[in-house]
Amino acid sequence: MTTPTKAGLEDVVVSTSEICFIDGDRGRLLYRGFDIDDLVEHSSFEEVVYLLWHGSLPTRKDLETHVKALRANRRLPAKLIAMLKALPRKTTPMEVLRTGVSALSAFDPDAADGSREATLRKALRLTAQMPTLVAAWERVRRGKAPIAPDRRLTLAANFLYMMTGRKPTPLAAKTFDIALILHADHEFNASTFAARVTAATLSDLHSAVTAAIGALKGPLHGGANEQVMRMVEKIRDPSGAEAWVRRALAEKARIMGFGHRVYHVEDPRAKHLRRLAVELGRERGNTAAVEILDTVRRVVEEQKHIKPNVDLYSGAAYASMGIATDQFTPIFAISRVAGWAAHVLEQHANNRLIRPRSEYTGPTSAPYNPLDDR
Ligand code: COA
Repeated sequence: MTTPTKAGLEDVVVSTSEICFIDGDRGRLLYRGFDIDDLVEHSSFEEVVYLLWHGSLPTRKDLETHVKALRANRRLPAKLIAMLKALPRKTTPMEVLRTGVSALSAFDPDAADGSREATLRKALRLTAQMPTLVAAWERVRRGKAPIAPDRRLTLAANFLYMMTGRKPTPLAAKTFDIALILHADHEFNASTFAARVTAATLSDLHSAVTAAIGALKGPLHGGANEQVMRMVEKIRDPSGAEAWVRRALAEKARIMGFGHRVYHVEDPRAKHLRRLAVELGRERGNTAAVEILDTVRRVVEEQKHIKPNVDLYSGAAYASMGIATDQFTPIFAISRVAGWAAHVLEQHANNRLIRPRSEYTGPTSAPYNPLDDR
């Protein structure tokens, strides 16, 4: 038995995979061999979903069929909406997503079928339904009726429409689509690993995605984008950013949106999200959030030599679209479900139970005292 030298399985390779490649020294991220910079420039999120699941870019005809199927599966069962209405209004969007995805399995006609074809159909339904679920909760918790999905819109534009009740501007729809592309997969991150561990017991896609959502929720993973925006809200004005971050660092606080287990340079997704946050901020006439984040970044880089990650600028873009801060992590999930599903498919295609060991450091001969003698 070998013992990992570093905690948290750092640098431990647990499996082979053909889905995603990260070069942490050069700051490169590839999905199925394609650089995310090219995918951001030329692809749509729907095309990237196809790429992740099938391993190659679709032909025009394949893409049309795939997009049509995604658009046709957006609606939620009426009983699921009724279930949302029965939840306490204070339930957080991530709790609702975790509960809703688990409940959707009860309505899925392929729930009991673990074949590749059935898992692909479930992945398609879930990827189509999760944006509707996230947007429906936003409406329900505000005491409003959920907005029905619009088949004429892309996944990104339709989500913004269902969320806000307004058709998004072309820039907002494009920005959101790119944000979805950038979050779609990231190798063996914590939530994907949770999904693969679950899938490796030959459990089903909905269970794997529910487990992944639980892992994504934490502030060291997907929850960081929400915490970045809470920081921006606390700082409020760009003029106060430098003093705030210097104080936070002096108090040894962890600054959300910085650092990464794999990247030793800037996360290659951050530059795209910054550019989009700037463009959207300009369109809305408010660039304060990006100005604050730029100052925080300068100080953190100077003092700690820690680089921005994917979560630093995404929230500023979402906030410009009128999205509530506690919805940022669910947005991460409506994109990452594409990657989780790809990993479940890959795990099932060549499965072996994932069952590591721990090095036991507890006592080995504890004398047992019966209850009455303690
Ligand atoms: N702010 C301040 N210091 C940080 C930091 C941050 N965001 N990220 C790492 N560090 C420091 C740690 O304090 C530690 O310093 P020390 O050795 O003096 O104690 C060192 O860098 C290594 O950090 P560690 O937590 O061991 O690295 P990790 O690989 O386990 O952590 C993260 C990776 C992502 C969990 C970590 O960088 C972090 O907490 N970032 C903020 C949360 C975040 O943005 N998460 C989203 C990731 S995409």
